[in-house]
Amino acid sequence: MKSVLITGTDTGVGKTIVCRHLAAYMQSKGVNVITQKWVQTGCDYADDLKDHMLKPLPAWGEVQDIDTLRTPYRLKHPASPHLAASLEEVEIDIKIIEESHALLCKHFDLVLVEGSGGVLVPLNEKILLADLAARLKMAVVIVVSNKLGCINHALLSIEALRLRRIPIPGLIFNRMDGQSDEKILRENVRIISLIAGVPVIGEMPFLKSDADGSEHVKDIGEAFYKCWKENKNDRLDTKRPDV
Ligand SMILES: Nc1ncnc2c1ncn2[C@@H]1O[C@H](COP(=O)(O)OP(=O)(O)O)[C@@H](O)[C@H]1O
Ligand SMILES: [Mg+2]
Repeated sequence: MKSVLITGTDTGVGKTIVCRHLAAYMQSKGVNVITQKWVQTGCDYADDLKDHMLKPLPAWGEVQDIDTLRTPYRLKHPASPHLAASLEEVEIDIKIIEESHALLCKHFDLVLVEGSGGVLVPLNEKILLADLAARLKMAVVIVVSNKLGCINHALLSIEALRLRRIPIPGLIFNRMDGQSDEKILRENVRIISLIAGVPVIGEMPFLKSDADGSEHVKDIGEAFYKCWKENKNDRLDTKRPDV
């Protein structure tokens, strides 16, 4: 598990928050981790990367122009990558993303890539996010916004990944508010994991402030760390799940 795509059941479901907490936990365990965001939309600076709040490690100095490698495309319009690019008359070149990803994989033990939107978001008119994850032989963790309706969103996302024979080490359920019906939220976790046969890495509670969290999400970090360690030396391409 050299490289993991953190995707979600939708946009705005907590991918950035999850990346931040996983990266911080991995750093606390001494793992040489880096985060990447292939296409940042909605701003012309690396918004999500800033929010990942990684502490720079010595390995960063060995890599030239690391900021560009971490966010090869930064686009102003808050739209799907293919549209944001076309509005700026930019062509998203998959080779550039592949090369930046390969370079980071060479220098770091783990590359956490935050996806844009969900699994079937188009990067350009030919390739979807999940297609690129398959091409790069990545594992994919899905952040599920735990709410009414997420069973369908989560199972559809899992089907799309399975169709491309992408390994899914687990799901992270995120509580985006503190008001939903507890019965529904608990059942969502159980039934999605059962039907899909995908383990739950953890459940992110609703966080009242940014500072809140490190204590609550320790279990998620630990579960992810264990999963990474167990699969560290696996060539994921030799154990692709059957469709
Ligand atoms: N568990 C949570 N508790 C409180 N606020 C959250 C939680 N998860 C996400 N948010 C907030 O919801 C918004 C969207 O989350 P974000 O991580 O940016 O989503 P994404 O990266 O999927 O677009 C942010 O303002 C974030 O702070
Ligand atoms: Mg984000």
